[in-house]
Amino acid sequence: MSVVVLISGRGSNMQALLDAGLPVAAVISNRADAAGHQIAARRGIVAAAIEHSEFRTREEFDTALAAEIDRHSPRLVALAGFMRILSPGFVARYSGRLMNIHPSLLPAFPGLDTHRRALAAGVKVHGCSVHFVSDQLDRGPIIIQAAVPVRPRDTPDLLAARVLRVEHLVYPRAVRWFLDDKLVVHDGVVSVRGNDAQLVYSDRD
Ligand code: GRF
Repeated sequence: MSVVVLISGRGSNMQALLDAGLPVAAVISNRADAAGHQIAARRGIVAAAIEHSEFRTREEFDTALAAEIDRHSPRLVALAGFMRILSPGFVARYSGRLMNIHPSLLPAFPGLDTHRRALAAGVKVHGCSVHFVSDQLDRGPIIIQAAVPVRPRDTPDLLAARVLRVEHLVYPRAVRWFLDDKLVVHDGVVSVRGNDAQLVYSDRD
């Protein structure tokens, strides 16, 4: 029934999953100095670091990562600010049970620096997406999205903070749906049994 969460840094999405009472078995990062480790430690959650810099190839790192994950036999692997591109072998191994949160309304703005790019593009609505991971970066069936307005005087930081607030809302919801067996993927499109809303809109600051 459990979830393994992969992080690289701050860990606020991981914290949102913990705050929601989800069954997180372990937190694994690719950096021993990830701030999220402190949060996990305070909650008594098993945390491990596998330093990617100690491996010669992406595949070797991914093999070590998978071995650490599999010790916990999780149902779901949740990427929460995990800043490593995963090899096709890794993605295939966890196919259908590997989830990510991305800070844009996919398929717009895959990759890094999404808030600055959204401002530069002049979009009026921005947000985040929780999706199943496929072997294309930041692609894969979309489970839930949250939209926020882009305001005239936004900076990337202001916009990022507005988006982060809704990230913390939708990621726990997506994980709960998965654990409750509510997600159905058909032709690359996800629906939720019982018709739960897969779009959240928030204009709060
Ligand atoms: C979040 O914006 C997430 O969408 C992105 O990286 C950031 C991680 O933040 N993938 P945190 O570590 O969860 O606080």
